[in-house]
Amino acid sequence: MSNPASPPAVGVLDHGPALRFPPGFRWGAATAAYQIEGAAAEGGRTPSIWDTFSHTAGRVVGGHTGDVACDHYHRLGEDVALMAELGLNAYRFSVSWSRVQPGGAGPANPAGLDFYRRLVDELLGHGIEPWLTLYHWDLPQPLEEAGGWPARDTAARFADYTALVAEALGDRVRHWTTLNEPWCSAFLGYGSGVHAPGRTDGAEAVRAGHHLMLGHGLAVQALRAARPQAEVGVTVNLYPVTPASDAPADRDAARRIDALANQFFLDPLLRGAYPADLLADLREVTDFGHVRDGDLATIASPLDLVGINYYSRHVVAAPASPAEQGGPAEQGAAAAQGVLAASCWPGSEDVRFVHRGVPVTDMNWEIDAPGLVETLRRVHEEYTDLPLYVTENGSAFVDEVVDGRVDDIDRLAYFDAHLRAAHAAIGAGVPLAGYFAWSLMDNFEWAWGYTKRFGMIYVDYDSQTRIPKSSARWYAEVIRRNGLAAQ
Ligand code: FCB
Repeated sequence: MSNPASPPAVGVLDHGPALRFPPGFRWGAATAAYQIEGAAAEGGRTPSIWDTFSHTAGRVVGGHTGDVACDHYHRLGEDVALMAELGLNAYRFSVSWSRVQPGGAGPANPAGLDFYRRLVDELLGHGIEPWLTLYHWDLPQPLEEAGGWPARDTAARFADYTALVAEALGDRVRHWTTLNEPWCSAFLGYGSGVHAPGRTDGAEAVRAGHHLMLGHGLAVQALRAARPQAEVGVTVNLYPVTPASDAPADRDAARRIDALANQFFLDPLLRGAYPADLLADLREVTDFGHVRDGDLATIASPLDLVGINYYSRHVVAAPASPAEQGGPAEQGAAAAQGVLAASCWPGSEDVRFVHRGVPVTDMNWEIDAPGLVETLRRVHEEYTDLPLYVTENGSAFVDEVVDGRVDDIDRLAYFDAHLRAAHAAIGAGVPLAGYFAWSLMDNFEWAWGYTKRFGMIYVDYDSQTRIPKSSARWYAEVIRRNGLAAQ
């Protein structure tokens, strides 16, 4: 790695027989366009909803924006060289729609496409497989003004954009992901309003979720038409949902949150139907009149793989009695989700999210590695035989640079525990074929701006210096050995 004075990484790999991963396992890291690129107004790029949102007072901690971010747009050579030092064999990045199709309509912007061509060529030149995500939350602003994701036409616009990118990059990119975490786009963007575009309407959030999935289905079809060799998937963020007690009311709260967080997306995408209890739970919110004949078949267009982002577990309880309201557990849970302007759980607003008192990350998210095994097994056992990939997993912790080094042992331990869980899932029969750490480097963490660091590589935002942390050196060793030490 680039710090020559570094002693070897923490010794967890130095003893015991190895826990090997299958041959050909993809070892990657992930990023997203708005979180790292910067160059917000260069090369013909126009604003997305995240530019507008971050430039609106009070939306992002500290008034931070992605205007410069990690300046990756100008530093792609250096950044790919760091990936190569890590030994990554795959890199998951997203394309900024506003960079390649400014305004979200019309012809492709050659300068925008050229940036991604250079990135992909640089990756391929280093033997790193490009994994391209088409949409990581940054809708072109004019499309939001035309109605955003609650409007059906946005799905068609997404398919057009997909066709442009497939045409331009499909000769060198084989692995495609349509959407990243549609739950966040729909329910944080249009429900709680803590993400762009910041709307707070439960019915719009549900419509947005449907149209995101419709856009996904149309994009799968556009990709197949343009590039029959493409390997196509979607990335969903999943949580095991556990009731706080065995009481029937708590179990029902868990069922409701599981339906909204997980089944809202898994069922249409992998089974071609919304679950009946979800429709019933949302009866007061929407009549689902926005679902047209044929939509669910489009949404369930066959895929080649499924991407899963895993961070934590939800533990939930039935609505509080008046005496309990605002108690410490509830306040802790509110802090874990950011202070919500409105609810991201339409129809189930009063379900309580509780903390069990287990260790948390700097996001206040509980650390729960067994939840990854549960999640992977559930998708495989209940939904699909397709290859699964962990397309994001990682943790924010406060990092300190001491003598030019960042010894992020908490993050390293988080990765270690979750990779053991991934290995256990494979042992239990899950066809897990790759793991992408979130994130390659510290970056713009949405509503938290630059205050939360998830990277394996530290970024000094004043100088744009990159410092691989201990977790990066450790991960490089895991990749080199294609495994971990047994404990
Ligand atoms: C996921 C997002 C990613 C990053 C991580 C911490 O929800 O996909 O961009 O913010 O969380």
